[in-house]
Amino acid sequence: MEPLKDTLQTLQDEALRRIESAADAIALESLRVEYLGRKEGRLTQILRSLAQLSADEKKAIGQQSNQVKGLLEEALTRKQESIEKEKIDLSLKTSLDLTLPATPWMRGKCHPLTQVMDDIVSVFTRLGFNIAEGPEVETDFNNFTALNHPPDHPARDSHDTFYVKDFKDGANVPLLMRTHTSPVQVRYMTTHKPPVYIVSPGRVFRHEAVDATHSYVFHQVEGLAIDTDISLADLKGVLSLFAKSLFGGDGGIRFRPSYFPFVEPGIEVDISCTLCQGKGCSVCKNTGWIEMLGAGLVNPKVLRTVGYDPEQVSGYAFGIGAERVAMFKYGINDIRLFYENDLRFLKQF
Ligand code: PHE
Repeated sequence: MEPLKDTLQTLQDEALRRIESAADAIALESLRVEYLGRKEGRLTQILRSLAQLSADEKKAIGQQSNQVKGLLEEALTRKQESIEKEKIDLSLKTSLDLTLPATPWMRGKCHPLTQVMDDIVSVFTRLGFNIAEGPEVETDFNNFTALNHPPDHPARDSHDTFYVKDFKDGANVPLLMRTHTSPVQVRYMTTHKPPVYIVSPGRVFRHEAVDATHSYVFHQVEGLAIDTDISLADLKGVLSLFAKSLFGGDGGIRFRPSYFPFVEPGIEVDISCTLCQGKGCSVCKNTGWIEMLGAGLVNPKVLRTVGYDPEQVSGYAFGIGAERVAMFKYGINDIRLFYENDLRFLKQF
């Protein structure tokens, strides 16, 4: 028979190995019962058989058994702890921890110019204006002739207008990149009867060198109202509302005489400087006023060209530069920032 000492050693090695590789808490518990169980436990049985041994043997084997028991208990505890830890780690990994910071999402949004154009347009749509859009490539007739630009008007000069090479309209006149969104008004008036209340947002093009305040492509929102009994007072009212909505403040505006071929009288509209409340600052060059847009009462010649009767109806028109509005609103001093798509700039809006 194998000496008891060796049996104990074999039992110890085997038990430690099995404990170490136990898969879960249940397997571990059944190992504890198998080796250390109070009735049937294998070590318990060995201890029970000590009674038959001599006093010396009893002492030696007794000591060894206690040692084995200690080792096994220790190994069981250690393994149990590591199984529990694994369980917690796994649940942390697979469960939702509401205390963790959320995964950041890159949120897309509209370009500042789009936002400003939407803001401008909504001032007028709230008053009942419709949105009318048109093509960026236009006929000379819609862009100039119908808007009362005589054939020799300087704006037709190639220094101001991009002509589209090799493309001509029905009258064999070159097509061009629209220099304002006013041609949309011509298109609309020739296809609709008065009353007309429209705003035309869009991109426009001019043959211009780029610098801090100029660009060869920029954006306008132009408005047109045609109805019976329209006067400058109506224009002043809606533009004052526009100024108040976009810039806050009291909506103070002033008219200065100016000239645009398609309006008579033509006026330039200044808004009260909301940075200094009209007191005078560097942005308004100490005048208390900011030049903001062109406007006027629609020239009767234009009305006649589109088939309206100037004896029956009259109207006003205005043209707002979106970049100009955005630059004043946000204190931006270089127009090029709008077109460079630098995220450090765009993220601020
Ligand atoms: N169409 C003009 C421009 O682009 C602006 C304007 C519109 C002026 C309506 C007066 C009336 O310069």
